[in-house]
Amino acid sequence: MVSLAGKVALVTGAGRGIGREEALLLGRLGASIVVNDLGGSGEGAGADARPAQLVTEEIIRGGGAAVANHDSVADPAASDAMVAQAIEAFGGIDIVVNNAGVLRDRMIFNLTPEDIDIVLKVHVGGAFNTIRAASRWWRKLAKDGREVTGRVINTSSVSGLFGNIGQTNYGAAKAAVAAITQIAAMELGRYGVTVNAICPTARTRLTTIGPVGGSDGDGRAWDPLAPTNVAPLVAFLASDEASEISGQVFGVFGGQISLFEPWHASAEIRSSTGPFEVCDIAARWRELFPGGASSFAAPEMARVRDDVAAALASAATATS
Ligand SMILES: NC(=O)c1ccc[n+]([C@@H]2O[C@H](COP(=O)([O-])OP(=O)(O)OC[C@H]3O[C@@H](n4cnc5c(N)ncnc54)[C@H](O)[C@@H]3O)[C@@H](O)[C@H]2O)c1
Repeated sequence: MVSLAGKVALVTGAGRGIGREEALLLGRLGASIVVNDLGGSGEGAGADARPAQLVTEEIIRGGGAAVANHDSVADPAASDAMVAQAIEAFGGIDIVVNNAGVLRDRMIFNLTPEDIDIVLKVHVGGAFNTIRAASRWWRKLAKDGREVTGRVINTSSVSGLFGNIGQTNYGAAKAAVAAITQIAAMELGRYGVTVNAICPTARTRLTTIGPVGGSDGDGRAWDPLAPTNVAPLVAFLASDEASEISGQVFGVFGGQISLFEPWHASAEIRSSTGPFEVCDIAARWRELFPGGASSFAAPEMARVRDDVAAALASAATATS
């Protein structure tokens, strides 16, 4: 049985959707939780203290320990304060789950500067801010000779890895989150910290996947798109059992966990006489595309959609 007893976790955006389920599961496994949520709309407008408060109360009702935080992860000082709140309330911080997110989906020609700015500030800024704050604490502990089992679990997206029309701002932010994951893992490993990321797929207010799946009540044995399906991977990555895993990006939905490979060179041409001349490239570029060239299209995204459709169909037939 995996236990998080004695651990302290900050879960951002934990008032709703995927983050809520992550906070509840980490709490059930024994971690003390700082439940952060700004409580605004899906596009990032406004604020509301209730979502974080309700999840905090639910954890406490279940016998766990939790405190609410209502600030924005886009604010570096507020993120420092979230980590300070964990240390003050529970004596330290062991786990950071960067989950808070907003969407401003538009075709690139329709994006306002604010649509770009808020998405980058929440997803990329948010990950930078909390990791920076927590890693200072972990680095100090390590330098004082204390044992550190720091865990960061970021939330990326297949949109950032494979591309999705209407999401240049969001995809760029989520690709950056994957890069932060890989590089922070390299930087923090020596201090006893692992950094990984998930790319979840779940039915929340941010997704337009429904109502194909309906909800638990529509005759399925189980719901492949329930946000509860995502939390066990996050809890595992937060645990001592996952100490060997760092710098990795996982896909997760339903009953499926995938390991995504990072960018790699799939073909190469080399000049034997020094730098390429333009005319040499013009003569040889087809060697880079043995299967024929086309503009970038993401077959992986189609595969993700096929997987989701297949999981929904199989969960439906399981009950019929
Ligand atoms: N649902 C999916 O299929 C899916 C797919 C890929 C990635 N994601 C990512 O998963 C994460 C959770 O999304 P969700 O689908 O559960 O959406 P959600 O809207 O249900 O939850 C996001 C939460 O983040 C909070 N939040 C937003 N901005 C914040 C800020 N600045 N500071 C603190 N809290 C803030 C919101 O109030 C909300 O409660 C996001 O990062 C999202 O991009 C979701």
